[in-house]
Amino acid sequence: MEVPEAPVFPLLKGKVAIITGAAQGMGKTTAAVFLQAGAKVVIADIKTDQGEEVAKELSALGDVRFVKTDISKSDEVQNLIAQTVKEFGQLDVAINNAAHYPDNSPLLDFNEDTWRRLMDVTLTGTALCVKYQMQQMREQGTKGSIVNIASINAFSPEPNMPAYTTAKHALIGLTKHASNEGGPLGIRVNAIAPGPIFSEMSAAALKIMGTTPEAFAAKATSMSRFGQGHEVAQGSLWLGSDCSSYVNGVCLPIDGGALSKW
Ligand SMILES: NC(=O)c1ccc[n+]([C@@H]2O[C@H](COP(=O)([O-])OP(=O)(O)OC[C@H]3O[C@@H](n4cnc5c(N)ncnc54)[C@H](O)[C@@H]3O)[C@@H](O)[C@H]2O)c1
Repeated sequence: MEVPEAPVFPLLKGKVAIITGAAQGMGKTTAAVFLQAGAKVVIADIKTDQGEEVAKELSALGDVRFVKTDISKSDEVQNLIAQTVKEFGQLDVAINNAAHYPDNSPLLDFNEDTWRRLMDVTLTGTALCVKYQMQQMREQGTKGSIVNIASINAFSPEPNMPAYTTAKHALIGLTKHASNEGGPLGIRVNAIAPGPIFSEMSAAALKIMGTTPEAFAAKATSMSRFGQGHEVAQGSLWLGSDCSSYVNGVCLPIDGGALSKW
């Protein structure tokens, strides 16, 4: 029996990747890691000036473009895919990382405008990304890998974030569904559930919960520390690359042991 060769470094050589929400935080770190792994990268974000600035900064690492995109708008997501193909000829990997900030109230008193906007961005926006990314990959007839960035809140709620918790739970359903449609086409769809990771978003979430990184990490993780963006990017790198070629429909926690914590 012939044993095919395992892919070797650089893991993403010859691949074109989209990373949403990459004007800062984990998305930006993931873009830097992907460029170093040999990918051509399109970063998408609603923040135009910051996105342009990040693309300029990361261009030292490889081929990178910024496309202003509000993922909740179908025409902007379609434009993102079209611009990616126009610039780099194809789409192989997508990291759907953009999300709305967590909400901040009990379910009993939730603000209905905030709820709708959060669902529009975090759930419907990610679904739009998956839809048009899969359409492009199907049209190309090549293999593809899509990673949706969920959260440990996809499994375990925190107080005062009912919309965020609900949307992140739904992303697991979206990922499982998409993996079934994608599998026969050679398109893998997986998710990552980050635990507490240093970023602007987690700083805001800590404020909502009225706690500090040290106190929260000691309570929530078995490693008693916050994670770094690059520790999540490594998971996206593995799931995005051919190294994970038989992995489909899973959610990989990268959480310092939070989901197994007693
Ligand atoms: N930081 C954590 O502790 C943590 C934990 C679990 C999950 N996550 C998830 O990881 C991902 C990245 O989080 P982060 O901490 O780096 O957050 P962040 O707030 O620093 O970055 C999110 C990015 O998404 C962009 N964005 C927001 N709405 C958008 C829209 N409609 N269209 C396009 N871009 C939009 C923002 O402008 C921002 O650049 C998010 O999905 C978040 O829910 C974060």
